[in-house]
Amino acid sequence: MWAGRFQKALDSEADDFNSSIFFDARMYKQDITGSIAHAGMLKKCGIVSEADGDRIIEGLQGILADLESGALKIDYGAEDIHMFVEAELTSRIGEAGKRLHTARSRNDQVAVDIRMYLRDEAEEIRGLLIALIKAVLSQAEHTKTCIMPGYTHLQRAQPIYFAHQLLAYCMMFLRDLDRLADAVKRMNISPLGCCALAGTSYPIDRAYTASLLGFDGVAMNSIDGVSDRDFCAELLSVFSIIMMHLSRFSEEIILWSSAEFRFIELDDAYTTGSSIMPQKKNPDMAELVRGKTGRVYGDLTALLTALKGLPLAYNKDMQEDKEAVFDGVDTVKKCLRVFAPMVSTMKPLPENMKKAAQTGFINATDAADYLVGKGMPFRAAYKISGQLVALCIEKNTVLEALPLAVYKEYSDLFAEDLYEAINIETCAEKRGSAGGTGQQSLSAQIAFVKAQLGLTEE
Ligand code: ARG
Repeated sequence: MWAGRFQKALDSEADDFNSSIFFDARMYKQDITGSIAHAGMLKKCGIVSEADGDRIIEGLQGILADLESGALKIDYGAEDIHMFVEAELTSRIGEAGKRLHTARSRNDQVAVDIRMYLRDEAEEIRGLLIALIKAVLSQAEHTKTCIMPGYTHLQRAQPIYFAHQLLAYCMMFLRDLDRLADAVKRMNISPLGCCALAGTSYPIDRAYTASLLGFDGVAMNSIDGVSDRDFCAELLSVFSIIMMHLSRFSEEIILWSSAEFRFIELDDAYTTGSSIMPQKKNPDMAELVRGKTGRVYGDLTALLTALKGLPLAYNKDMQEDKEAVFDGVDTVKKCLRVFAPMVSTMKPLPENMKKAAQTGFINATDAADYLVGKGMPFRAAYKISGQLVALCIEKNTVLEALPLAVYKEYSDLFAEDLYEAINIETCAEKRGSAGGTGQQSLSAQIAFVKAQLGLTEE
């Protein structure tokens, strides 16, 4: 390839070190598609003859078809996918193949390939996120009236509906969808024609290749076009946030499926047993998702660190972008694929949720609010409610079970209607403020999620 300048072949260890084909071969389709557009442009602009242009395009189409059918195998001895395709083309069509790389460099070629590759992957991830939101939403619709304790500091705090907790995750994943679309929007700009870094003296038509390849426009500065990997960093940031959400959800699923909570039971298909303890049913999938979150953060950190000291324009360090971003893509896809069905098949256990809701004094705020309703200042009411909780703990009982006479010892304002006010169901339902846990808010949230997904017209 370097014929002319070099006297000696690359040392074989150095050759392996330099090579990227083991990981960039996955972009073969984008590479060939990009080359077909480039060849079409060279022909249209009179930079190569009609006949050569046609030969190149047919040759490339043949290579793509043969790779897809398995008739052609990637030669992992090539330095990268770009070199492999070009060499294969020349071996198939001879001289004309050597004209493909006119007015192009691997620097703009690789930049256009990754953008197209990631654009396709982002579309797939969008579909997986939507499937996950639908799975969570459907669980929420089925658990709309299941009461559970809501937590702060992992201490039982106030009664909520299980659906409210699940819908919180729907909101996170909707924002992830939005962030993904936003990253793709900036990614979808064509660097093709930036060439090595400075553009070219050939009369190329960049807008033409950009439109053939489905880009929304062309990079305005050729140095930026070949140096920019922001879109990889942005995508990995989006992935990191998706993973952070999945990891928090995993953590809750792990807690909820423990004997200490037993709010849900995971389906056998998404749990494993222990090799020694026969009673165990381990939430491995959720744990792995939580674990793989660190790995995706690592991918983002590796990429940002690789880029931070680079002078413009292309530097070979940038070849390191691919393993990081591809690992992020693969990991997020695997996690989403297993997560959605794990959520759809998990069985909520409303009885246990309710029992936990009844024993955590999570109506203590409501007892205070009751006194406030009768005219007492909140701080005074708060203190009385706290004293009543302390008494319950001492007597091993709950607020609902204390006789009215006891309440009266603390305040004359207590009357029979107190019991309705501190009933757990009433307490959840009363929180009917916008975005609160009340049924009306839940219905509004469900409608919102559906409208965002285009499942209903609104
Ligand atoms: N394999 C290279 C990469 O992934 C392709 C670009 C090489 N360009 C160069 N001037 N060496 O970054």
